[in-house]
Amino acid sequence: MKTARVQTVAFVGIEARAVDVQVQIGAGLPTFTVVGLPDKAVGESRERVRSAFAAIGLALPAQRITVNLAPADLPKEGSHYDLPIALGLLVAMGVVAPDLADSYVAVGELALDGRVAPVAGVLNAGMAAAAQDRGLICPFQCGPEAHWAGVQVLAPKSLLALINHLKGHQVLNPPEPPQAITDDILPDLSEIKGQESAKRALEIAAAGGHNLLMVGPPGAGKSMLAARLPGILPPLDPQEALEVSMIASVAGGLPDGAIRRKRPFRAPHHSASMAAMVGGGQKAKPGEVSLAHMGVLFLDELPEFSRQVLDSLRQPLETGETVVARANAHVTYPSRVQLIAAMNPCRCGYLGDPSQACSRVPKCGQEYQMKISGPLMDRIDLHIEVPPVGASDLSLPPPTEGTTEVAARVEAARAIQRERYEKLSEGKTIRTNAEADGHVLEAAATPDEDGRRLLTEAVDAMRLTARGYHRVLRVARTLADLAGADTIARTHIAEALSYRQMMHLR
Ligand SMILES: Nc1ncnc2c1ncn2[C@@H]1O[C@H](COP(=O)(O)OP(=O)(O)O)[C@@H](O)[C@H]1O
Ligand SMILES: [Mg+2]
Ligand SMILES: [Zn+2]
Repeated sequence: MKTARVQTVAFVGIEARAVDVQVQIGAGLPTFTVVGLPDKAVGESRERVRSAFAAIGLALPAQRITVNLAPADLPKEGSHYDLPIALGLLVAMGVVAPDLADSYVAVGELALDGRVAPVAGVLNAGMAAAAQDRGLICPFQCGPEAHWAGVQVLAPKSLLALINHLKGHQVLNPPEPPQAITDDILPDLSEIKGQESAKRALEIAAAGGHNLLMVGPPGAGKSMLAARLPGILPPLDPQEALEVSMIASVAGGLPDGAIRRKRPFRAPHHSASMAAMVGGGQKAKPGEVSLAHMGVLFLDELPEFSRQVLDSLRQPLETGETVVARANAHVTYPSRVQLIAAMNPCRCGYLGDPSQACSRVPKCGQEYQMKISGPLMDRIDLHIEVPPVGASDLSLPPPTEGTTEVAARVEAARAIQRERYEKLSEGKTIRTNAEADGHVLEAAATPDEDGRRLLTEAVDAMRLTARGYHRVLRVARTLADLAGADTIARTHIAEALSYRQMMHLR
């Protein structure tokens, strides 16, 4: 009995691992079995394949059909196995030539009427196909996405169209290539009037990659500020853009099949579950913190997030990765984000508001701010207050400086950091001051005489912890980099000290 073989993939994190679909048709009562750790959706594949065959007038052989997905110990999830299983059957039935089928990796879901429906992870599958020197067979709608892998792509609308192509009856058109890497238009910083110190803090956050907490009453412009951070960050380089797109692809697919150089901006609602935030759940899909990889994770109303969700962010913020636990495996997703958090100063929102008093000073603010754990606070280098914008500021003409000017300064400061940490990083990948710690940081950030004296005084007066001390050094290093200064001066230390934790926050 001969075994027909077709290649497909299983997703482990963003990696598409090779899976061999082996199909045997043997003597015996008519059955159709799929083995090799298939989950429920893969099991249902049988029914979809059977119907899709019937829809194009092909009957499954009335014999014993066994499909094995190998290796057996790799979990198989999702609906993209339909098409490779169908193709394996076609080879086993002698409809499609074995060598031809073997020159592709196939992914796709089959509708009952034989159409090929879109699936997640096509970009990643295409990259795996490229590594194996094979072409890719994927759903028609996923053709533009597959294009980025640089392999030969067959993107049929239906199973019949695929069969006709492989038999040479009617050749499929190559899929439309997507637009070149897209640069989206982002909201501009010049739309924000006044708020000079908040904009300064945003620039520092962008320059050094620092996490930022904004405390201020509703309507102060916190969301507006956060949304303008991706615009002042340097765009993704092509390699980074590809990695970000691979995460988006396994999460469901790329919108219009485009690869974007814009940094992701994700703003999950405070009711988000842990699975939504860090990934996991039934399919171990990436969560918001991974979808924001290399970009911005904006958490508005920070204290309203559940404690469990906030705690689950500590690992990605520390390591740049999220580990999602599965029944029998762990899946790792890249999750290097810049956290921008916003909150009201107190539960009622009026603490410090000149026009209306908070009814329960100081408890209202203390209780509210205590909801954020110390370890999370420790990962946020910059804390600022955003006061309500005054009427006189709103009537000002728009500022002359906007996103373009600020982005140029951010890029210059980042170039200085890249060069520095290439020399200092001791094998670890450090790109920004925010990622420097311990003696790497101390070697990078040495204040001059005056600066050191001020820092020592502050350590005593403000009772800075070791972490607090390092936070000041990191921010001071960024301030000096923005100024193009080699050594950290007293002014840099003084400004860095002003971004320390807020009044009620421990
Ligand atoms: N500094 C500002 N310049 C111009 N418009 C502003 C400014 N601050 C707030 N606004 C206006 O107020 C609205 C509310 O701002 P928003 O960012 O949502 O505040 P917050 O997130 O702090 O509650 C914005 O959509 C914008 O129209
Ligand atoms: Mg808001
Ligand atoms: Zn209050």
